[in-house]
Amino acid sequence: MSAVAALLERAEAGARLRREELALLLAAEGEDQAALFAAADRVRRRTMGDGVYLRGLIEFSNICRQDCLYCGIRRSNRKVERYRMTPAEILATAKVAERLGYGTVVLQSGESDALSPDEVAAVIRAIKRETSLAVTLSLGERTYEEYKLWKQAGADRYLLRHETADPDLFARLRPGRTLAERVQCLYYLRSLGYQVGSGFMVGLPGQTVESIAADIDLLVELNVEMAGIGPFIPHPDTPLAGAAPGTLEMTLKALAVTRLAIPDAHIPATTALGTIHPEGRQLGLRVGANVIMPNLTPPPYRARYQLYPGKICLFEDPETCAPCVEALIVAQGRYVARGPGHSPRAAFAQPAAKEEMPDARQPVGELH
Ligand code: SAM
Ligand code: SF4
Ligand code: FES
Repeated sequence: MSAVAALLERAEAGARLRREELALLLAAEGEDQAALFAAADRVRRRTMGDGVYLRGLIEFSNICRQDCLYCGIRRSNRKVERYRMTPAEILATAKVAERLGYGTVVLQSGESDALSPDEVAAVIRAIKRETSLAVTLSLGERTYEEYKLWKQAGADRYLLRHETADPDLFARLRPGRTLAERVQCLYYLRSLGYQVGSGFMVGLPGQTVESIAADIDLLVELNVEMAGIGPFIPHPDTPLAGAAPGTLEMTLKALAVTRLAIPDAHIPATTALGTIHPEGRQLGLRVGANVIMPNLTPPPYRARYQLYPGKICLFEDPETCAPCVEALIVAQGRYVARGPGHSPRAAFAQPAAKEEMPDARQPVGELH
């Protein structure tokens, strides 16, 4: 038995792997790599089932005070036409998500007060009052008080990728910010009772396999309920324009190893993965992912939220993406899971959510 096969056996049996062992899995090639992908798929099936949750993404503002070197909407990019959606537009878009049968909306933006903290709280309250959707926020590094206000308004989850667990690389890529501050935010979110999501980019310039192992180790340490992993894709109007993008292979390996390391996390097959390869999201679903995040941002705004070039679905409207994504899921032998799709952990168990049981699966088309 190869060293990788032995590690996979231990991981599947529930052992926590050391960082060097995670790195060994990330370096797997050929048969070992195929065995890694198969093991991740088995673990996903055992812990999360065959359902794929859809989280509708609403990118409500591209205004940002940060200057992350990798990001197309960074403060210094003067070519970006800035926008903010109104609270009424955000609520109307959330209702589209509900109509399309999605169980969650993700409200994402640059880091700014494009909507004041109170306005964000009011939007969360309105969505919770007028729909049955779960609300996930992805609004960057904020104060404890802001996180608390939004939790009290009814937000369920928060996504804040740590981006890279290498503190020096982090400081270089996010001028003026530190990894410690970002991790502190994640602990704030945890203490406030959010379902917490973090994650990282694969292929950042200067990143090594060891540092990806450290990324996964940090996710284990944070015991995240959600793990977002996607390739870095260089944007032409950023200082990293000339850098190489993250590869499909390493992103899939990182995703698979994360599934083994945190069996019960919700893990998306990301839009960035679908951007670097036409079958990227399908492949993600085969190696551990169980979530897709279709874009719901209304078309006039969507094209102005380009974190990276070539982003898929830039001109499709939500009505086009919904059947496309459902067909993609079914083609993988999976089904669209309905309901909010909260973390299966006991701390977040909801009273008998019948629609989330596998036997409540609904054939594609029935909801349209
Ligand atoms: N501003 C918030 C933040 O930074 O957490 C939320 C929005 S931010 C645009 C969402 C994610 O986009 C980041 O966490 C980052 O991982 C990802 N991202 C930014 N630029 C990217 C790029 N060039 N390629 C791939 N992903 C990128
Ligand atoms: Fe702003 Fe987030 Fe982009 Fe950084 S990644 S520049 S915080 S939107
Ligand atoms: Fe948008 Fe396929 S998911 S067109």
